[in-house]
Amino acid sequence: MSFSELITKRQSVRRYESRAVEDEKIMQCLESARLSPSASNSQPWHFVVVNREPLRTEVARATFTEIKLINKFTLQAPMLVVIVQEKPKLITRLAMQVKGKEWPLIDIGIAATHFCLKATELGLGTCMIGWFDETRIKEVLNIPGGKTIGLLISVGYPPADYPLRTKVRKQPDSMMSFNKYP
Ligand SMILES: Cc1cc2nc3c(=O)[nH]c(=O)nc-3n(C[C@H](O)[C@H](O)[C@H](O)COP(=O)(O)O)c2cc1C
Repeated sequence: MSFSELITKRQSVRRYESRAVEDEKIMQCLESARLSPSASNSQPWHFVVVNREPLRTEVARATFTEIKLINKFTLQAPMLVVIVQEKPKLITRLAMQVKGKEWPLIDIGIAATHFCLKATELGLGTCMIGWFDETRIKEVLNIPGGKTIGLLISVGYPPADYPLRTKVRKQPDSMMSFNKYP
C-alpha cells in the first residue's frame, strides 16, 4: 500500500468483529510506535495492551457514561491500548521549562499515529480515544496515581461492510499559506 493509500484508508473505526488481533500484528504495531520520533528522543511513553478479560471490558467501560455514550463502541473492540505518559529525560524537561512547551503529549500523538497507520496496513481498524475516566483506568491497570494517561487506542478488525468514509477536513486554502500568516 502506498503512503497516500494508507492515510486515505486510516479512519476512526467504531465497529469491530469479535475475533482477536493476532500477537504478531500487535507486535508490529508496537514496533512502529517504538520507532517513532520524540523530543530529544525521550520516548516518554509506555504502551499497555489490554486484551484479556475482565480488564478489557473494565477499561472499555471507563471510556463512556450513561450520559456520554459516544465511546460505547469500545466494548466491541477486542483490544484497547492505553498509552501512559512517562517522564521525559532531564534535558527535555529543562528545555520544556525554558520554552514553556509540553512535548510528551505531542510525542505520544506521533507514536499513536505510527501505531494506527501500521494497524491500517495490516487490515486492522483503530480509533484514538481521548475521552476516558483516567482515575478508573489507572485503578484497573494498577498505574500509579502520579502518572498521566495520554491516549487510548481501540483496535480490532472492522466488519467487512464497514464503509470507507470521505474525510471531512478544512479546505486546503484555509489551513495553509506560503510565506505569510494566515
Ligand atoms: C486526540 C484524539 C482524541 C480522540 N478522541 C476520540 C474519542 O474519545 N472518541 C471517538 O469516537 N473518537 C475520538 N477521536 C477520533 C476523532 O474523532 C477522529 O480522528 C476525527 O473525527 C477524524 O476522523 P477520522 O479519524 O475518521 O479521519 C479522537 C482523535 C484524536 C486525535
